[in-house]
Amino acid sequence: MDFRSIAEKRYTTKKFDASKKISKDQIEDLKHILKLSPSSINSQPWLFTFVSHNETKNALADASFFNAPKIKDASHLVVFSVQDNLEQFERHVEDNLAEGSVNFYKQFVKEQPAEKTINWLSQQVYITLGFFLAACAAMEIDSTPMEGIEPEKYKDILKIKDHKVLFSVAIGYRDTEDGNQPELVGKSRLSTDKVIQSIE
Ligand SMILES: Cc1cc2nc3c(=O)[nH]c(=O)nc-3n(C[C@H](O)[C@H](O)[C@H](O)COP(=O)(O)O)c2cc1C
Repeated sequence: MDFRSIAEKRYTTKKFDASKKISKDQIEDLKHILKLSPSSINSQPWLFTFVSHNETKNALADASFFNAPKIKDASHLVVFSVQDNLEQFERHVEDNLAEGSVNFYKQFVKEQPAEKTINWLSQQVYITLGFFLAACAAMEIDSTPMEGIEPEKYKDILKIKDHKVLFSVAIGYRDTEDGNQPELVGKSRLSTDKVIQSIE
């Protein structure tokens, strides 16, 4: 399928079919694709946690407000976290990144307040969200991106250290009755002239 059709067909799934699970091979492909996401100076300040263990997934669902039923029925929940231990991040930069990236880090990132740096690192993790949602759609896997979660509870449940939980994505296969499918409700978007301009 061409990418234009994929973009038209993907949507935020509101009801999953609990009987359908994603194959191990496809999960491995998704992990590989996430690792290939681009980031500024190749900083890769992320941690992706794939959860299929039912009890853990249900505990995370109960820390996800109105999103709970989607997570309980989904095949997997993927939790996206950003590194917020800046000493550790600096060591990673110095040990792993190219000289130009290290210089960029020292000149532009290191001197700024920690909050600003964590915000910049978080932006890198959000890039992976777009990459991931597109990959899922290309693989005909349905998805629900969710900021409607309780990050501190997620962190406790998953025993995550040195990272801050940002959002999660439920993945699986839609219930054929899901009322949010584009075939039923279309795609609600601003008009082209409001969001795209061309200087020719
Ligand atoms: C960062 C982010 C957070 C979102 N959080 C939620 C959420 O907590 N629950 C939910 O049902 N949808 C959530 N959405 C889905 C958006 O509402 C949805 O993408 C938007 O309405 C466009 O619809 P579409 O994805 O079906 O094209 C989120 C989307 C993004 C990108």
